[in-house]
Amino acid sequence: MTATKGLEGIVAATSSISSIVDGVLTYRGIDIDDLAEHASFEEVAYLLWFGKLPSAAELQKLQQDLDTYAPIPQHLIEQIKLYPKDANTMAALRSAVSALALYDEEADDMSREANEKKAIKLQAQLPTIIAALSRIRQGKEPVAPKKGLTIAENFLYMLRDELPDETSIKALDQALVLHADHELNASTFAGRVTVATLSDIYSGVTSALGALKGPLHGGANEAVMKMLEEIGTVDQVESYIQQKLDNREKIMGFGHRVYKNGDPRAKHLQQMSRELGEMKENMNLYNMSIKIDEMITNQKGLRPNVDFYSASVYTQLGIERELFTPIFAISRVSGWTAHILEQWVDNRIIRPRAEYVGLSDQKYIPMELR
Ligand code: ACO
Repeated sequence: MTATKGLEGIVAATSSISSIVDGVLTYRGIDIDDLAEHASFEEVAYLLWFGKLPSAAELQKLQQDLDTYAPIPQHLIEQIKLYPKDANTMAALRSAVSALALYDEEADDMSREANEKKAIKLQAQLPTIIAALSRIRQGKEPVAPKKGLTIAENFLYMLRDELPDETSIKALDQALVLHADHELNASTFAGRVTVATLSDIYSGVTSALGALKGPLHGGANEAVMKMLEEIGTVDQVESYIQQKLDNREKIMGFGHRVYKNGDPRAKHLQQMSRELGEMKENMNLYNMSIKIDEMITNQKGLRPNVDFYSASVYTQLGIERELFTPIFAISRVSGWTAHILEQWVDNRIIRPRAEYVGLSDQKYIPMELR
């Protein structure tokens, strides 16, 4: 038995949800570029769960379900108020999502129908939780979700207690489309491993949230923003990045296990970042990002991944850095739950082996002889 570090190149499941072939990402066979241009996030979530784009009536029904499920239990709001104000937002989100199961009588109902309903519920409730976390941390009362708004619109509304502008809604919606699914990424795999034991969907999503939090995965977008804040201005980029490279430090937002010639999602976020900068007549974040991109591409041959330009996009939408990874979760919960539902269609417990490299032929040593 020989281990493959990081399971690189190991095919660990079959899936018909999303694919990455020759650097092209598709959801249910549709190119992400096509979806980024034409689809709403709700259409994409439906596509991931049910394998086809929704009809007008199906989309309307989904919107109604999202409206119904979006409010979160008052008990959960009271719990969130007890969380330390400086707690990591992903840790708080992970705790709150885990707690959601306590208030769902169907949490352990393993019928397909109940699990599909819970997938939609989780999709509806994550934005409400995240907006509540943000407001409570600032000493404000949470804002209840408003019926009839899209997920992007409602999230921004709940954050600010005012209806957002069209540009912000469109940008966030497109970002959600781009982050929705990504084959067997680390958090999706974590979710599938958990539910393959026939544990419940809340446990699966809680596991996935834990994996997404890490800076080598979804946590990278916050790390990118921290770096941009530290750099400050374009003229500081060169010395800052060169020093990191000389110290052999990783530059967050670059590189990818699967894409070696560029992440197809990054160009959309780059364009969005530029357009938002032009609109706000402040190109500082965009210009810094471009300069970093050039340096890393030239010196390391690494291309930006989905997290790199999303940092400047969210900041230009007026969203605080601590919400970047949670926003990733708002989108990816659609993919996680689609994968969880798929896992259960033909389930087998996921239990690989380890190559043992420890000591052998050891004997128990009595306490007094150690
Ligand atoms: N900055 C500098 N060097 C890097 C970076 C980086 N961002 N990424 C990879 N490298 C280097 C590695 O150090 C390694 O060099 P070596 O062969 O001299 O040791 C080489 O490139 C190959 O990289 P691996 O670490 O083997 O790549 P792996 O597939 O294991 O990891 C990962 C992929 C985690 C994305 C990595 O590129 C990374 O840490 N990037 C920064 C974090 C990040 O942006 N994560 C988000 C990924 S997208 C997502 O999850 C949503």
